[in-house]
Amino acid sequence: MFAHDILIIGGGLAGMRAAIEVPPGIDVALVSKVHPLRSHSVAAQGGINAAINPRDSWESHAFDTVKGSDYLGDQDAIEVMCEEGPQDILALERMGAIFSRDADGHIAQRPFGAASFPRTCYAADRTGHALLHVMYEQLLKRRAKTYEEWYVTSLVIEGGACRGCVAMNIFTGELDVIAANAVILATGGYGRVFAPSTNALINTGDGMSMAYRAGAPLMDMEMVQFHPTTLKRTGILISEGARGEGGYLINAKGERFMAKYAPNKLELASRDVVSRAEQDEIDEGRGINDCVLLDLRHLGRQKILERLPQIRELAITYVGVDPIEAPIPIRPGAHYSMGGIKTDTWGRTSIPGLYAAGECACVSVHGGNRLGGNSLLDTIVFGRRSAQHALRQIRGGGTPEPVGREHLERDRERIERLRARRSGERIAAVREALGQAMSEDVSVFRTRERLENARRALREIRPRVESVVVQDKSRVFNTELISALELSCLMDLAETIVEGALAREESRGAHARRDFPTRDDANWLKHTLAYASPSGPRLEYLPVTVTKYLPKERTY
Ligand code: FUM
Repeated sequence: MFAHDILIIGGGLAGMRAAIEVPPGIDVALVSKVHPLRSHSVAAQGGINAAINPRDSWESHAFDTVKGSDYLGDQDAIEVMCEEGPQDILALERMGAIFSRDADGHIAQRPFGAASFPRTCYAADRTGHALLHVMYEQLLKRRAKTYEEWYVTSLVIEGGACRGCVAMNIFTGELDVIAANAVILATGGYGRVFAPSTNALINTGDGMSMAYRAGAPLMDMEMVQFHPTTLKRTGILISEGARGEGGYLINAKGERFMAKYAPNKLELASRDVVSRAEQDEIDEGRGINDCVLLDLRHLGRQKILERLPQIRELAITYVGVDPIEAPIPIRPGAHYSMGGIKTDTWGRTSIPGLYAAGECACVSVHGGNRLGGNSLLDTIVFGRRSAQHALRQIRGGGTPEPVGREHLERDRERIERLRARRSGERIAAVREALGQAMSEDVSVFRTRERLENARRALREIRPRVESVVVQDKSRVFNTELISALELSCLMDLAETIVEGALAREESRGAHARRDFPTRDDANWLKHTLAYASPSGPRLEYLPVTVTKYLPKERTY
């Protein structure tokens, strides 16, 4: 058994930001199923929001975020994020983050969707890459113990509190317990519930599923963000930065169709609004091969090379289009989970000793629709705050009490059963069926009929997930075995998404029901909580925290 004061599960921005908040003298460790620099935060492109310009204000950022969330975000949490954000950006800069600069040498900020001020700080279109590397340098400087390429199989809960986790060293296949006085989950999102998705293959929602199985509720899981600009076929992200820099969306007739849907903000309306507009254009026959076009030609070669070099490369490589010369075929694609493990503004979950931060958590600062650029901010602010609270909770630390061996034995048996199975379906086929069912019927627009199709499909897929065969029987670096474990996490989360979406009979943010097309504050200004039960997710509801922004009609 290993033991630490504080254990962080997940090596992306939220996890590493939490780790470096822990001062020397307190034993902090980080466990990650991939090398931290391969975490999905590295793929974040367009930027990180904060009101650092004296002509901007955190209150304005907070209002944009509340409105963007379609009033489902908790306003106390949004205020914390927007007020503390500027200091966090400056701290990142002091740590060595190389942000792009404006002509006066200040941190450059670009316009992003649904923002009333250009407040997205960026490093060209590779912001996540820049920040993740800085964070990793800080992690090395901090000399935090890092369990690289260890896969956490479950949380250890004893006496109602989280006391650590069981994890597999992927290199040897051995399982061990890592005990801790406090555990912070920072495992990212579940984007791979959908196929295609902008998310890395590693985004299988393991932490959310682990917490759910341990008894913590997942909140607002029906709120799935479809990013308006993902590449044809592959679903690779084309940053909102492209529209922030002035890119247009056009349909098959060459019309800038956003003028019809969001006359004031056009392409920079909130993501849910733009994705629905694109889907309407496609469904009504004004698309081109299930896509619309993102036109950057008028930005000119120099601006594209300087501000959007990565998306140019992606477009050339994956659709054979150089955006300097031709528009890029794009469509809405699964991108982000607004929902996640319910936490308070200090990252506390309902399980004592267990925290969550970043995309795996639902604080809730994104509500029904996240603003572009707010996810990186969420990771930094709430990664830091979770560690700060965990430090107070452990009060100076001390070696954690040993935990019972039964946790280890339970996971060992589960894995050996999986390894011993001689026949069954291949994992890839089941994962594909799950992704297709979700993309087909739980997409930009939803109806009862489509959601019931999805529910039926999931009922059929669940037993297939539980009887997959792992053909690789070896112990060393058995990625097939890891895929089987990940698939069962995806399955849990898909069920919570579909059940939450079926129950929510209104349209709010990214949850657009064609059969209930309007927002219904009288009945649905509330969070969905999903609890694990033997018969699937059990739903409860919780009021939204409103401080000063009363819900009103949302137009862009
Ligand atoms: O479009 C983007 O660059 C994505 C940013 C985000 O999801 O915050």
